[in-house]
Amino acid sequence: MSGTAGGEGRPIVLLLSGPNLNLLGTREPEVYGTATLADHVATARAAAAERGLELEHVQSNREGDLVDAVHAARGRCAAIIVNAGALTHYSWALHDALGAFDGVKVELHLSNTHSREPWRHRSVIAAVVQGTIQGFGGHGYQLAVEGTLALLGGPL
Ligand code: DQA
Repeated sequence: MSGTAGGEGRPIVLLLSGPNLNLLGTREPEVYGTATLADHVATARAAAAERGLELEHVQSNREGDLVDAVHAARGRCAAIIVNAGALTHYSWALHDALGAFDGVKVELHLSNTHSREPWRHRSVIAAVVQGTIQGFGGHGYQLAVEGTLALLGGPL
């Protein structure tokens, strides 16, 4: 498996959460479910640990913070899993930051954005990630970790 190593030599995966995801649990539960972001992070962290990966998490409602987090991951993290929230649909700054990150990149959404409003159909970050997981609700967090491991070249 390629990638830089964290504590105990485990490759670090950065999970990035964009605007409004801090409200999960109470935000439009009919669309996003009732689990909180902390629940999803715990799922991802457990899935990562089982597979020999270390998971870090950053959530911000500010585009620049997310860009900074991608910059800080350069040369340090093996992979980024990103649910950029609404920034997915218009943040060229995040597109460029992710484009400058050399590791594995996986885009993640709880909902199937293609079955929703037309403005959600376009992802401007899709062109700079290797894969996308969407429409599986909270299960997507485990699937994204599994997909990340596969893209890193590890066993499933
Ligand atoms: C989302 C989908 C986006 O369109 C929306 O703006 C979000 C959440 C998802 O996980 O389904 O904030 O990224």
